[in-house]
Amino acid sequence: MKYSQIIGTGGYLPEKILTNFDLEKIMDTSHQWIVERTGIHQRHIAAANETALTMAEQAARAALSTANISPADIGMIIIATTTPEKIFPSTACLLQQRLGIAGCPAFDLNSIACAGFVYALSIADQFIRQGAINNALVIGSEVMSRIVDWNDRTTAVLFGDGAGAVLLSSTEKPGILSTHLHADGTHKDVLFLDNTMRKPTALDTELYMQMNGKQLFKLSVNILGQLFDETLAANHLQKSDIDWLVPHQANIRIIEAMAKKLDLPMDRVAITLNEQGNTSAASIPLALDKAIRDQRIKRGDTLMLEGFGGGLAWGSALIKY
Ligand code: UT7
Repeated sequence: MKYSQIIGTGGYLPEKILTNFDLEKIMDTSHQWIVERTGIHQRHIAAANETALTMAEQAARAALSTANISPADIGMIIIATTTPEKIFPSTACLLQQRLGIAGCPAFDLNSIACAGFVYALSIADQFIRQGAINNALVIGSEVMSRIVDWNDRTTAVLFGDGAGAVLLSSTEKPGILSTHLHADGTHKDVLFLDNTMRKPTALDTELYMQMNGKQLFKLSVNILGQLFDETLAANHLQKSDIDWLVPHQANIRIIEAMAKKLDLPMDRVAITLNEQGNTSAASIPLALDKAIRDQRIKRGDTLMLEGFGGGLAWGSALIKY
């Protein structure tokens, strides 16, 4: 039986850091409010010449280097991003050109927002399990600073920019054990960004991401609890079998509630939220990369990944690392 194994990870964060204290100077907010309500202390902000593509390339090259494989060995590129380089071609096609590996399928998942990475991981995993490809590059890359309204303190303080990449490879021994994807379009108004492409004049509210934070908070805690039960049951595992939670980094209070649901202490949760804010589709691979690089996550550990966001869309991956 074939599985997908994570053989390399990489991350990229823009150099510029925006702290809560910097935000205090430009909007009616406070470090104390942001830390208490979200757990965020700072976030990285892309420079004018940085894009989802340039950051994805940095993260991809870092993952290739840790996996010690050549770009020519990649059989598929998927980039999860709500902030793509262009409407088309896909950011993945542009990255493929930069890596000089024409031929393999390359595409973006553009509209799955914060759940985009688990969706992308799941798709790549299906192709590897089928035996259609041997290696896949799965990336989350986001320039959230370009779609948040910097006049809206309820969203501007939450998000950050960055990219994370994972290289999956075909193996005979267990790697990704299962993935579970869901969506519920009845919650379409909880988090969205209009497409103003065809509108000659757009209102400010149509140019930027809109979020009902309170509603999203309640929905996420509820659906993620059910998602963990579903994921564990599908693998005949108990909570005690999970070594690490690698969550989407939206709010420390949501993450703490999720750790509690899995009976995991917080030192078994990969957290980057305090330093990076919410980087949407990039948050899970960035958290994974950090915990692997500093050797907290070790080979053989069982990892629960979860993501949720606009759609509503949500999903999990259970991984034997
Ligand atoms: O990745 C996508 C997924 N996103 C999420 O999952 C977000 C989930 N939601 C959340 O993380 C939280 O709901 C927020 C962090 C967005 C908001 O926290 P909250 O505890 O739900 O606060 P709230 O919206 O109920 O606002 C409480 C108060 C309000 O003032 P009043 O009406 O009580 O006077 C807000 O106007 O805090 C005020 N407020 C702020 N104050 C200072 C809202 N934003 C800010 C701010 N600084 N940045």
